[in-house]
Amino acid sequence: MAEHPAYPVGLRLTGRRVVVLGGGQVAQRRLPALVAAGADVVLVSPEATPSVEAMADAGEITWARRPYQDGDLADAWYALIATSDPDANARASAEAERHRVWCVRSDDADAATAWTPATGHSEGVTVAVLTTSARGRDPRHTAAIRDAVVEGLRDGTLVAPHHRTRTPGVALVGGGPGDPDLITVRGRRLLAEADVVIADRLGPRDLLAELPPHVEVIDAAKIPYGRYMAQEAINNALIEHAKQGKSVVRLKGGDPFVFGRGMEEVQALAEAGIPCTVVPGISSSISVPGAAGIPVTHRGVAHEFTVVSGHVAPDDERSLVDWPSLARLTGTLVILMGVDKIGRIAETLIAHGRSPDTPVALVQEGTTAAQRRVDATLATVAETVRAEDVKPPAVIVVGAVVTVGPATAG
Ligand SMILES: C[S@@+](CC[C@H](N)C(=O)[O-])C[C@H]1O[C@@H](n2cnc3c(N)ncnc32)[C@H](O)[C@@H]1O
Repeated sequence: MAEHPAYPVGLRLTGRRVVVLGGGQVAQRRLPALVAAGADVVLVSPEATPSVEAMADAGEITWARRPYQDGDLADAWYALIATSDPDANARASAEAERHRVWCVRSDDADAATAWTPATGHSEGVTVAVLTTSARGRDPRHTAAIRDAVVEGLRDGTLVAPHHRTRTPGVALVGGGPGDPDLITVRGRRLLAEADVVIADRLGPRDLLAELPPHVEVIDAAKIPYGRYMAQEAINNALIEHAKQGKSVVRLKGGDPFVFGRGMEEVQALAEAGIPCTVVPGISSSISVPGAAGIPVTHRGVAHEFTVVSGHVAPDDERSLVDWPSLARLTGTLVILMGVDKIGRIAETLIAHGRSPDTPVALVQEGTTAAQRRVDATLATVAETVRAEDVKPPAVIVVGAVVTVGPATAG
């Protein structure tokens, strides 16, 4: 008999009876999706795996603890036949045929009247991959195709612009510390869908090179600001592009709300009535020390870490940081934007009680190819920064955690 391709369809099973025969690994794999589809699942099996049993205990499925018997499929809309007894499977298959119940067979794809596709989900879409014919069935290949499509949609390497719900307005995306792999999946997808990207100097700039040619990429530092402050000019640029109906991504380094002025942009967009979505990012304050082998906490060493901006010196009247209190803490101090002022900061910490021998590490351009780590102590850090010519961007870590890792240079 000529073999025709299977006809793909999506079953809407809410409240409809689905009978599963056999409580082993196949049932364990398939049951969650049936439950998620709202099916009224009846499991017929003398035994079940612990996970399947847990689903029955939780009331997600009804479990008849016995072997299959004729008549079990009478009221079913759909059946999954997966017992370890080939004879029972064959009898159940024949019953399904008599009652015109579509049935999947775990032991014999040829004898089945339905096949389960390899499925995955991405942003409200179910991707289902079926082999064309029973003869050509290669479950690993179909699963690999499913993975390629779902992963591609998630990370933005596969773009489906005509069929996507585009995010209206502005997406404020935390791009992570610099390594293009350290942006979130959501951030990367929004970037792939953008018409306009306004990017900071810090963050995953390599990703900008991957954008299609029609995407307008604007360097935030180069937005002319004449009679405005720079931040105001950036806010205006976001608003103007969004008002033209474009999908705008504001790509920021690290997390938008960690010394990123993200909320100022959110407020400006709200005032202009422009929808804004915020995508968190991996902040350099934790990831850059980590990339250089420094944990910000460590059992028995530091039970707290404080992230602080060092962009103004401790004795500057604009400073909002209580440096004397920080000096009294025993945990880790992570200083961002502090390279220029580290001499004054170190003096202040020592003056208020931190030991001059406290270890300090400076991690410059963390997570990028240019990453560099320089070690010092509070007493020596100012001179070390000069001698080693440490330049921003760098994260400065102060505290005993600096020396707990196996590597102290790099
Ligand atoms: C304006 S703040 C922005 C912080 C960002 N929102 C975050 O969560 O990482 C900029 C400072 O972050 C730190 N920084 C950001 N990325 C860095 C990197 N890749 N390596 C070292 N320091 C970095 C530096 O201290 C830099 O001066």
